[in-house]
Amino acid sequence: MILAIESSCDETSVALVHDGRVLANRVSSQIRLHAEYGGVVPELATREHLRNLIPVARAAMESAGVRPEALSAIAATRGPGLPAALLAGFTSAAGLAYALDRPLYGIHHHEAHLYSPWIWGEPLSAQFQEFEPHVSLIVSGGHTLLVHVRGELDHAVLGGTLDDAAGECFDKVSKLLQLPYPGGPVLDRLAGEGDPTAYVFPRPMLTDPGWDFSFSGLKTSVRYFLEKHPGLADDPLAIRNLCASVQAAIVEVLSAKAVRAAKHLGVGCVTASGGVTCNRGLRAELERRCKRWGLRLRLADRTLCTDNAAMIGVLAERKQKAGVAPDDYSAPTQPGWGLG
Ligand code: KG4
Ligand code: ZN
Repeated sequence: MILAIESSCDETSVALVHDGRVLANRVSSQIRLHAEYGGVVPELATREHLRNLIPVARAAMESAGVRPEALSAIAATRGPGLPAALLAGFTSAAGLAYALDRPLYGIHHHEAHLYSPWIWGEPLSAQFQEFEPHVSLIVSGGHTLLVHVRGELDHAVLGGTLDDAAGECFDKVSKLLQLPYPGGPVLDRLAGEGDPTAYVFPRPMLTDPGWDFSFSGLKTSVRYFLEKHPGLADDPLAIRNLCASVQAAIVEVLSAKAVRAAKHLGVGCVTASGGVTCNRGLRAELERRCKRWGLRLRLADRTLCTDNAAMIGVLAERKQKAGVAPDDYSAPTQPGWGLG
């Protein structure tokens, strides 16, 4: 029985994982707290983690009927993420592991994201299913990564963003349109009522030979577009069309590159996780493209797209089963830890 903690950004999450089954996955989101500031404030995030960690852990333990003595290992996100937020979760995990005399597993946040599309089933009876070689898209407010996963614990980063992350682009465009924070879900909803062909925005690096992304130019072109059409912000239909057109540009780049990478590498499967994977346009476009090219598609369940401790616990258990050595209790957190 592994107790896992995730605290790399603005979600405090504790999960219990046993033999591939997620027995509890509690998430306390801080979105409302940060909305006032239009973005995550690291200092506030850390205080909130400290306030919430024990209540969230207690709720997870009680809902699964698990006593501390039943825990066989503790896991926590070691990086990358906000430095102090990581410290709050990781040192709590180290303290618990030391007090119970159990091994401690420091987990790479992005590597854990690779596992969330493979946790299937209803929340609380969700179960890890062994995965096949695939290409994985990790898209959130902080990261945009394309990864070749050859097998468990065996992966190589194909590319990432050279500037803004995909979620950051959604959020910044929403800000330009004065939509509420966090912008991604709002833009997604408005895009659903608009015409994606109304306006044409650039598809950055779509045809470049590599696997990297760039989204800051797209955000800038939206800014110029709004400056050229000052009345647009007062026209509800034009806003919806703009949201749909911008979303179509982001979604086309992400889905086309993921599918092209899978074909190039000869793997039969594409997966996606991270907050942006909640986007209905991205889910639909990945489905359409994968079907067209005969690829299997595994999208993380919406409850597991955003940051959660279930994926941390599942990866920790896979590492334990594979005989990977646990961390030293004094292992440092790694805020800028790249996925190798
Ligand atoms: O994974 P996540 O909760 O946190 C990290 O950034 O690590 O992802 C949050 C990001 C935000 O940028 C948010 O706007 C975006 O995911 N997001 C969406 C949608 N839901 C969340 N972007 C587009 N469409 C959505 N439905
Ligand atoms: Zn994440």
